Amino acid sequence: MVMLGFPRRIIYNEDAPRALLELLSHRGSKAVLIVTDNRLVSASWFKDILEALSGSGIRYCVYSNVEPEPGMEVGDQVASAARKCGADAIIAVGGGSVIDAAKAGAVKLVNPSIRLDSIAPFVDLGLEGSRITLVAIPTTSGSGSDASYGIVLSRIGESGREKVAVGSYEVIPYASILDPSIPAGMPRSLTIATGVDVLAHSLESLVSTGSNPLSDALAVKAAEIVFTRLPRIVEDPGDLEARAEMHLAATMAGMAFTNSGLGLAHAIAHPLGARLGTHHGATVGVVLPHVVRFNYSNSQARAKYEYLKSILEAVAGLPRRETLVSHIEWLYDRIGQPYRISKLTGISREEYLEVSRIVAEEALRDPDIAFNPIIPTPEEIEGILRSMY
Ligand SMILES: [Fe+2]
Repeated sequence: MVMLGFPRRIIYNEDAPRALLELLSHRGSKAVLIVTDNRLVSASWFKDILEALSGSGIRYCVYSNVEPEPGMEVGDQVASAARKCGADAIIAVGGGSVIDAAKAGAVKLVNPSIRLDSIAPFVDLGLEGSRITLVAIPTTSGSGSDASYGIVLSRIGESGREKVAVGSYEVIPYASILDPSIPAGMPRSLTIATGVDVLAHSLESLVSTGSNPLSDALAVKAAEIVFTRLPRIVEDPGDLEARAEMHLAATMAGMAFTNSGLGLAHAIAHPLGARLGTHHGATVGVVLPHVVRFNYSNSQARAKYEYLKSILEAVAGLPRRETLVSHIEWLYDRIGQPYRISKLTGISREEYLEVSRIVAEEALRDPDIAFNPIIPTPEEIEGILRSMY
């Protein structure tokens, strides 16, 4: 069965406080829990959101303890804060980690005894029919978690911290509010890293074995926006017109991959980033062109890459280049995203080759690999990893 799921509302290119108030009054909300991380609470736009809530008479509480790659316990912590607050809405204000923590909290609020690692697409969570409204206000243009059915948390396993990724259509936020002035405050390095993550979501969704015409449409347009708008906002962080489109592209790519699947670049980037301690977006950005080159040998993937290439050249006005990989390398040179590991971290070749052997094994166990158009052998993954140095 092909079942597709999307947020009920996407509020695009709008002032977040105003959009949030309108949405909450429409839902009849009386009290909300804002879930965020402690770096964001001092931002002026964050204070504007709180002021707008105070002025409207909607009670609010703030849970600001979400760490990057939060542990499973965050679900109970958010749910407990929501219960204390008497919240009928949970508002996630942050990047992917914050939004995932809010999703886990919403599940635990309506279903305190559920084990978060037992969540699966057809397990009834009781969230959809509940009075709880889940709203995402993404602060980066990257993860797509505001539109996705995934929750990625972590736990301590036998070999250290491990990722727990689960999914349910019920955790797709009711609404995503996309205010371009919020990501405009991101540091340049985060704009680049989250932007190439959007490209990776688009290109992996496009050639995924789970792709379909609807996810393809979203993936192609999101990729086109990255190629044309990301260089603009890296050059001029205050270009709000380009920001607004990049912010929407992140959500579109999230809608694409949640309805198709990702692929080998993410399967490699997850363990590689964990081993090297590098940012997810920057890491998957390095891996992406090497995986696209590898996937070119699959005729269906090649046809889709070439389709996107023709749109970039004939519609978006980019110069003709040999392959889609050449376009990616051009983009990376323009924005300053490396496509070699040695440029991302100072790791020596010997140490990297050692790490590569472990990462190749771990990538084969990553659930995203199942959606890649070619299932590689361990030797092929090691070959890709070696060529990345
Ligand atoms: Fe990603």
